[in-house]
Amino acid sequence: RTAPAVIVAIDGPSGTGKSSTSKAVAAHLGLSYLDTGAQYRAITWWMANNNIDITDPTAIAAVVGKPEIVSGTDPSAPTITVDGVDVSGPIRSQEVTSKVSAVSAVPEVRARITELQRSLAASAEAGIVVEGRDIGTTVLPDADLKVFLTASPEARAARRSGELKGADIHTTREALIKRDAADSNRTTSPLAKSDDAVEVDTTDLTLQQVIECVITLVEEKRAAK
Ligand code: DC
Repeated sequence: RTAPAVIVAIDGPSGTGKSSTSKAVAAHLGLSYLDTGAQYRAITWWMANNNIDITDPTAIAAVVGKPEIVSGTDPSAPTITVDGVDVSGPIRSQEVTSKVSAVSAVPEVRARITELQRSLAASAEAGIVVEGRDIGTTVLPDADLKVFLTASPEARAARRSGELKGADIHTTREALIKRDAADSNRTTSPLAKSDDAVEVDTTDLTLQQVIECVITLVEEKRAAK
């Protein structure tokens, strides 16, 4: 018989290795993969492109239903399109990164994106690894496994600077701390660890060690199902 679908929620601040870990775990276990940060970045990219005033939550809420956002959930080739346009490159820009916390704090934006996330999770046959900030607390409170990844601010800034190929580590650290504070302090489903999440401090672990740790946790849950 086939194994029952397994739903895995991986949350945590930026620079903890969420994306690399989630993709590798999903690929190894034959599960789908969803990067929810990419969805918030995609709607932010559309807002910026359409000259929506992102300091005005009412203006954002008024157009929240306009862009069509589609996520491809194959962990070896995740995709994201807005109105049919591949935005996987542009959503990583400095402009989008600096605006995404404001856009994703708007309740109407969260309601829209949460609905997309729940429908993708429900239609993933083998199961899915969903990474984000509020997956275990809000989007998928009944997930089979919830993981909360952490790391010291220094480790997170160093990883992000590496990804951004030589970006100044102090600037990266300040921007990252500012974004995490905004994401943690917003009113609607902030970045938070669910009470029943397993916390993994990745500061002194290699990516491979984190991946193996999460795979073991998923396999334990799957065996118990
Ligand atoms: O994971 P990331 O850095 O690509 O996420 C970009 C932003 O999206 C992050 O700063 C906050 C927001 N986000 C969110 O509010 N809820 C999620 N589940 C995922 C991301």
